[in-house]
Amino acid sequence: MDGNGRWAAENGLSRAEGHRRGAERIEEIIELCKDRGVKFITLYAFSDENWNRPSDEVLALMQLLRHFLVSKRGGMVEKGVRFRVIGDVERLPAELQKDIKETQELTKGGDRITMIVALSYGSRQEILRAVNGLIQKGVGEVTQEIFDEALDTADFPDPDLLIRTSGEFRISNFMLWQLAYTELYFTHTLWPDFDEAELEKAIVSYSQRERRFGMTSEQVK
Ligand code: FPP
Repeated sequence: MDGNGRWAAENGLSRAEGHRRGAERIEEIIELCKDRGVKFITLYAFSDENWNRPSDEVLALMQLLRHFLVSKRGGMVEKGVRFRVIGDVERLPAELQKDIKETQELTKGGDRITMIVALSYGSRQEILRAVNGLIQKGVGEVTQEIFDEALDTADFPDPDLLIRTSGEFRISNFMLWQLAYTELYFTHTLWPDFDEAELEKAIVSYSQRERRFGMTSEQVK
């Protein structure tokens, strides 16, 4: 969800306000994805590296997350949204951890769509946590399946489509292992402006791709 800061600067607003507008986009996008039959959507909300931002911005984001969870969880239950988090949750403020736990518990029956929020998330860190967990368990030989199971994303399929907003053309430490065969879509649109028409463009682009997974065109037809 990149571009909140630039969107705020362009509109003469604070970065915190940019994030607030960014958070407002989420509900509509989840609904649209749900209506289209998308079963899992992951939102990269706070990276491991984002801890290095000015403390007032980090605080504003943590408060925004708490507000989002507390104000939206009733609606999530009604709409069949299951809420989950990936990342180094233990680094988050205790109150936010509590809100996350409660929201996960409350929404666990949601069967229309799973909304995964990546918080304090970094893929390299996730991979190292997984490796160290396997070492501690004394696992001798690691297969792809065993490694998949050790990641934060163990319960979720690999993404089919990655959308990055704001004209940045990089992965920024996001699901490096899981993205092996994901289709990538980049747009210059800033996240607070990412609306139904923008989502449609991304889905149309995705639907025109031929996913060969290393095979030939004839094999996958
Ligand atoms: C990147 O834009 C965005 C973030 C670091 C925060 C994203 C968080 C939210 C949209 C709100 C909270 C999330 C939930 C799930 C309620 P940036 O600040 O890097 O923008 P810039 O590159 O234009 O400065």
